[in-house]
Amino acid sequence: MKILSRDLVALVSQALLEAFPELGSEEVLTVISIDDPRDVKHGEFATGVAMKLSKRLGKAPKDIAEALIAHFPKDYRLETVEFAMPGFVNMKLSDAFLQEGLKQLEGGFSVEQGVDVTAGEERPIIVEYSSTNAAKHMGVHHIITTILGDSLANLVEFMGHEVVRINHLGDWGTHFGKIIYAIEAWGDTAAIEANPNDELTRLYVKFHEEAEKHPELEEEARKIFKALEDGDEERTALWKWIVEESLKDLRKIFTRLGVEFDHITGESFYLNMTDEVIADGMKAGVFTEGEGGSLIYPMGLDEKGEEKTPALIRKSDGTTLYLTRDLATIKYRMDTWHPLAILYVVDHAQSLHFVQNFIVAKALGYDKIATASGADLSTSLEHISFGRMSFGDRSMSTRKGNVIKLSEILDEAVKRAGSLAANKGSELPREDLYALTEIVGVASVKYTILSQDRNKDLVFDWDKIITLEGNSAPYLLYSYARGSSIVQKAEAQFGPLDLAGLPKLTEEAEKAMVRKLIKFPEALQRAFDERKPHIMTTALYELCQEFNRFYGNVHVVNATTEMERRSRLGVVCAFMNVLKSGLSILGIPVLDRM
Ligand code: ARG
Repeated sequence: MKILSRDLVALVSQALLEAFPELGSEEVLTVISIDDPRDVKHGEFATGVAMKLSKRLGKAPKDIAEALIAHFPKDYRLETVEFAMPGFVNMKLSDAFLQEGLKQLEGGFSVEQGVDVTAGEERPIIVEYSSTNAAKHMGVHHIITTILGDSLANLVEFMGHEVVRINHLGDWGTHFGKIIYAIEAWGDTAAIEANPNDELTRLYVKFHEEAEKHPELEEEARKIFKALEDGDEERTALWKWIVEESLKDLRKIFTRLGVEFDHITGESFYLNMTDEVIADGMKAGVFTEGEGGSLIYPMGLDEKGEEKTPALIRKSDGTTLYLTRDLATIKYRMDTWHPLAILYVVDHAQSLHFVQNFIVAKALGYDKIATASGADLSTSLEHISFGRMSFGDRSMSTRKGNVIKLSEILDEAVKRAGSLAANKGSELPREDLYALTEIVGVASVKYTILSQDRNKDLVFDWDKIITLEGNSAPYLLYSYARGSSIVQKAEAQFGPLDLAGLPKLTEEAEKAMVRKLIKFPEALQRAFDERKPHIMTTALYELCQEFNRFYGNVHVVNATTEMERRSRLGVVCAFMNVLKSGLSILGIPVLDRM
């Protein structure tokens, strides 16, 4: 399916250039936007470009809009192109195009990239997500990055880009000194192997409790970390074992979530590349000496004219920092993949870190790729930040710190999905029901995270998460299952589904459904541009509402003529294809029965 608004931009621009030759073609492209009309009765697309050009052309919006309409190229996809006060131009899709679009969607859904788009280039987009810290439980923010990042990576891929999925595992840092101390003092290998992250977290907490009574433990832990940095063999072996055990636990969670990575590459991988970063910075003359012989990058002045906190590149004791490792990471990724963009899906608490990271990376020239032709390609470095998540449920919100386990949240969701199915009286046999509640429970947690604007804080409210009403995973899944049961019913009565020939749309409810389906790629494109899956979930929710209206308004299996039945079954299949693709971008599988 095409992203129609792109073609419409071209049509509007052609009309404008003809009507107003004094405008330049580049200028025109910067002002045209294609939006939703203010009233659905006005059509599917609208542009307010006449208002935007009023000053520039010294004409009333109405006159500009009318001239635009007079020069609008004929296009079979548009039924009408009409004026609306004060200067809108509204476009309505033609029945012929609805029919053609439906035929296409019956066969499956994908987004066609126009020739003028950068998508499909060989430069991939790197999506870095999850990036939890080894030997610790996932924090609440790690739950979001794991789910959000996976969905963004799916979206990138669906939009025709090659994607590289990376988990930048936190496998280095001073806390390893503490964990190793705790293991050596109180650890039990078998207990750790049986339950890695629970046990390692317990030991880490114990270290802090003991260190309060015996402050000298802190120094011991520092020494251990120093030994680790200096390559002490025994400690290095222990560290490796900790990371591997911890990963075993994480992998179970990834499997349950259906989340995958191309690379799980920990911070430690970049340790021996930090010298290069320092050498690059010295050569470029951008690093200077800071307090006590440390190395810094001065961040310049703030609005008040005061010196901003400089970025610390190397500590005075010579040890490297999180930031330095991140700079080395960028350099490595640029050399390895020549990416179009690197998206860091990391919680908003690290905003300052990423501001610094990107500023220093640019100062080092790490965002550019030199090409043979001499033109530098640039890479967009983006922090995909997100808000906090909290729980309306008292028992979860009163827990100390960040120790809500993802598996507990999933278990609770699955349990509630079970009660929902029981209350509703599912038609499924018991063993299928078990698999179903797992899928619905996990899907609900994902959907709750993905259906919210990621910049807003998220309150987890169980009653809105596991429900068959409203914008929730069960509602969407149920709509799909309804479509599927219609098809099954038709097949039982009339034999295998046959969608040969062109569909014919007669009822308004059918056309409304098809218009919404044809517009779905626009939402996908916007979700991609803004790196916000919720833009897509809103469109999916609206599709399901429209489908339920359609289903309530017309007979499908019991249609009066064969032609009507064929066409309406086509609408059902098209809807299912689009919904299935949308859900797959969210990492949610569909169910044929519920
Ligand atoms: N491990 C870090 C944390 O949990 C997040 C890493 C984010 N990615 C990065 N390239 N710095 O806080």
